[in-house]
Amino acid sequence: MVRIVARDIVITTLLLGVFAAAGTGLVAWVHSNTEHRIAENRIEMTRARISQVLEGLEYDNDPVADHGTLGDPRLGAQELPAWFARKGGEIVGVVLSVVAPDGYSGNIHLLVGVDAQGSVLGVRVTQHRETPGLGDDIEADRSDWIHGFRSRSLGDPPIELWRVRRDGGVFDQFTGATVTPRAVVHAVRNTLVYFQESAETLLSMPPADGTEPLTIETLEPEMPEPATTQPPAEPTNIEPQTPPEVAQ
Ligand SMILES: Cc1cc2nc3c(=O)[nH]c(=O)nc-3n(C[C@H](O)[C@H](O)[C@H](O)COP(=O)(O)O)c2cc1C
Repeated sequence: MVRIVARDIVITTLLLGVFAAAGTGLVAWVHSNTEHRIAENRIEMTRARISQVLEGLEYDNDPVADHGTLGDPRLGAQELPAWFARKGGEIVGVVLSVVAPDGYSGNIHLLVGVDAQGSVLGVRVTQHRETPGLGDDIEADRSDWIHGFRSRSLGDPPIELWRVRRDGGVFDQFTGATVTPRAVVHAVRNTLVYFQESAETLLSMPPADGTEPLTIETLEPEMPEPATTQPPAEPTNIEPQTPPEVAQ
């Protein structure tokens, strides 16, 4: 009787061990497979976003793998990623990650694509907490407003007109919502000022090809607490609209 009970215990323990090992193995296998796919998706999403703000530019490298880190108060933070588009080895465009700190509900994260001459190729908002229906017309899939920066530069309009209309500038504000577009206009203008002053350094950055691709999610700074007393909205992460397509 005692021997039968002991044998049952051994068999049950062995079975449990086998199931536990199989379960752990399965979880590890699924994890390693999905981890790789998630990383690939992030790279593709970053490539899509970069190509959106380099619209119309011809380049023959993969900017996702050709990146650096920039820091300047005018960009809104000390460590922000930047990606370089090259043709024949020469930098023909730079994508700067920028933070507008003075949105209605805190930081607005932007990508600003600039060509080597300092003209804007494209701007997209990647994350914000602005009020739906009031401040979120900065999103490219809600309005055309963000496309108003295309081809603009520090001379077009003159720097003193890089403001919303209510402040005497040339950029539209939204009905009942001036704070959000004002923050974005300031951020793009400051980016161009920084670009102009740093152009020599930026345009002579050596290629970083061969390093790990840099995705937006990897380096974007944590969202700090909103600056206003409004209850914080959930941050809106904006997915790129068009499928990834990079000029090669
Ligand atoms: C609950 C609430 C949410 C608001 N959200 C925004 C916003 O996301 N962006 C914005 O610019 N203004 C927002 N506003 C309006 C601003 O407080 C401010 O009145 C406006 O930006 C000024 O624009 P105006 O000069 O055209 O009136 C909000 C106001 C309220 C009461």
